[in-house]
Amino acid sequence: MNIVVIGSGGREHALAKRLISEPGVDKVSVVPGNAGMLDDNLTLVTCNIKDKTDLLNKMEQIKPDLVVFGPEQPLVDGMGEFLEEKGFIVLGASAAAAQLEGSKIFSKEFMFRNDIPTAAFETFNSYELALEGLNSWDVETSGIVIKADELAAGKGVVVTWDMKEAQKTLYDFFMNPDCPVNTKRVLFEKVLKGVELSAFALMDGNTFITLGYACDYKRLQDADKGPNTGGMGCFTPKSWPTDNTKSQIDERVFRPVVEGMKKEGHPFKGILFAGLMIDNENVNVIEFNIRFGDPEAQTLLPLLEGDLSKAFDLAARGELSGFENKLTLSNEASVHIVAASGGYPAMDGKPMNLDNPISIEQLEDATIFFAGVKEKDGKLVNSGGRVLGVTCTGETIEKAREAAYRQMEKINFDGMIYRSDIASGSDGR
Ligand code: AMP
Ligand code: GLY
Repeated sequence: MNIVVIGSGGREHALAKRLISEPGVDKVSVVPGNAGMLDDNLTLVTCNIKDKTDLLNKMEQIKPDLVVFGPEQPLVDGMGEFLEEKGFIVLGASAAAAQLEGSKIFSKEFMFRNDIPTAAFETFNSYELALEGLNSWDVETSGIVIKADELAAGKGVVVTWDMKEAQKTLYDFFMNPDCPVNTKRVLFEKVLKGVELSAFALMDGNTFITLGYACDYKRLQDADKGPNTGGMGCFTPKSWPTDNTKSQIDERVFRPVVEGMKKEGHPFKGILFAGLMIDNENVNVIEFNIRFGDPEAQTLLPLLEGDLSKAFDLAARGELSGFENKLTLSNEASVHIVAASGGYPAMDGKPMNLDNPISIEQLEDATIFFAGVKEKDGKLVNSGGRVLGVTCTGETIEKAREAAYRQMEKINFDGMIYRSDIASGSDGR
């Protein structure tokens, strides 16, 4: 099979590296990919993936049997169905189905219509109405979650117990031209209690296969301090979710999504990422994403056993039924640690420390996935916030973590930052 992976980050590196390792796959092109992927028998194809003409030209040159989309934005923009209309086989949601991630309000209303457990919410279409609406929320006692409706790269959600901060958030989201989030609609949500878990399923529009579970560390610094990031590390918990929780996730979350989206006329095809809050055995959905997580993909893919390229191809064609038991997770644990550039996540206009050569002594039991890197004067340098990540697997979380930190110590670039507490608690957290 000749496969294209669309995207350029660590998640796409993990997808591409996995796919090229399978016997049925001859070629994987990453479009556009990054310079850190060059050593892995992968082909990089320069392309502006926002430009339909450029994307189509490149696909006509590559002639892939299957196109796998990594990130959400091109799917929200309709690039998946555009390629499908041109005759390509695509794993990725249509623009209508991508609203599950692209519009938080669509997503919440879908959950309510389909009886998927989630926090109670209210929506507001203007600053004035939202400000007035705040008065009926007991912010100081019970807290409130304020979400901008649109995709906002992790910046459009504020959880607070402070009325003044809630009011300021509304001003920022609706009125403040200097705020990176700019919305016409917000959603207020009750604060959920529990432990966060990312759960993944492969869907073909009719049925699904559960791919696995992982815990992501969103804050920049140890002990969950500092600003929100795209994810600074990740691990697969071993003693939970329990079987009961897993079956709730399948039956109360994944199945109603696949059935509800089909019933409502936009079947979901691709990877569904359910961001969950687990409180004892109680499962609630925080959000849906229409793609693999980053760094959850780098953490989970090394544990996934079976013919993933075949599963992706079947899902893209709507023929996944019958393949359910052919993808399984190994019993090992997996730990992933991200190295970022100094200054990441670059808030308040502060620059990041970029363009520094990266030195790596590769250890045998570790896998390195590259994200914000480029080649400069024949050397790999850091060119973005999250630069690379290291994944190690092992019999126990502790063994996987120790190996990952051993590898981290053999990587260096000026300004490099990483958390030292990934997967270090009891059962990881
Ligand atoms: P989202 O972009 O919807 O995933 O929200 C970003 C983060 O905000 C989540 O990972 C949670 O940590 C937090 N969050 C969002 N919604 C809630 C909620 N209803 N209760 C508690 N925390 C939430
Ligand atoms: N790691 C969270 C995400 O991919 O959105």
